[in-house]
Amino acid sequence: MRRSGVSAPLGRGVNFGNALDALPDGGRRLVLRDEYFDEVKAAGFDTVRLPVRWSEHARQEPPFSIVPEFFARVGRAVDQGVRRGLNVVVNVHHYHEINRAPDDHAERFVALWRQIAAHFAGRGDRLYFELLNEPRDALDAGRWNVLASRALAAIRESDPRRVVLVGSVAMNDVGALPELDLPADEHLMATAHYYAPFEFTHQGAPWVEGSARWRGAEWGGDSEREAVRRDLTRAASWARRKGVPLFIGEFGTYKEADPAPRVEWTAFVRRECERLGIGWAYWDFATDFGVYDCDSRAWRQDLLNALLSR
Ligand code: BGC
Repeated sequence: MRRSGVSAPLGRGVNFGNALDALPDGGRRLVLRDEYFDEVKAAGFDTVRLPVRWSEHARQEPPFSIVPEFFARVGRAVDQGVRRGLNVVVNVHHYHEINRAPDDHAERFVALWRQIAAHFAGRGDRLYFELLNEPRDALDAGRWNVLASRALAAIRESDPRRVVLVGSVAMNDVGALPELDLPADEHLMATAHYYAPFEFTHQGAPWVEGSARWRGAEWGGDSEREAVRRDLTRAASWARRKGVPLFIGEFGTYKEADPAPRVEWTAFVRRECERLGIGWAYWDFATDFGVYDCDSRAWRQDLLNALLSR
């Protein structure tokens, strides 16, 4: 995978967010149904990113065993995607404790990956692993670079060739990609998230303190477009220099943004990614940022067009 000038191998994707990664906070949840995989495939997506909160379904003590029933649930979702010819990116999502106390959780994190890799070894190359969603706080670049390489080594014990995505620190900030030391490995991809300007994309989002004040934020001026172009161009240049493909594994807007700038931002970020050869996955399928409405079982056509029109 480490070849220069590789174009977006994961193509166009969508996140099945708030399903297998759901937090127990009463927020919106996605109950994963087989028909959603059909919808995603029929719409023309190439990839689903499947965020998984493994840390809630594994023992706290060595050997940190993952609960077999949970493995089966994740396995079913992986199969649903792969069977339809979709790429499936499985990550470790919402392992908040590791951001607060990285040293205390390093061994457990590596043990989770050792088990996940062994479990899915032989599953075919449409399955991708992504080490950790949005490392942050005490999990800074120095610590993350060491930990990522330990987790990769644990994966490689059973699965020498599966493509593994490694993300930047500071919540997968595109601007933090230069701090990422990619381990020496032929089958890596880099990943980052794009939510800028945050006051626009997260206006009114209940989990972001102070975001009520951002309600009504608009987007679309020349300088704002230029900022997006600059951020993504820098990220793409970094990836090219490193010889890895880049995947923007999350980008999107919370549902409270006005529909017109929301659609415009989505289309602009998506087109810039494609111009630069970056694969992407929209956050998310059908909850807070949703491009699909489970109640009416229909796509939000304007957002879908922003993502998939030529
Ligand atoms: C988090 C979600 C959040 C989204 C946008 C994701 O990484 O898991 O809970 O809605 O980012 O902020």
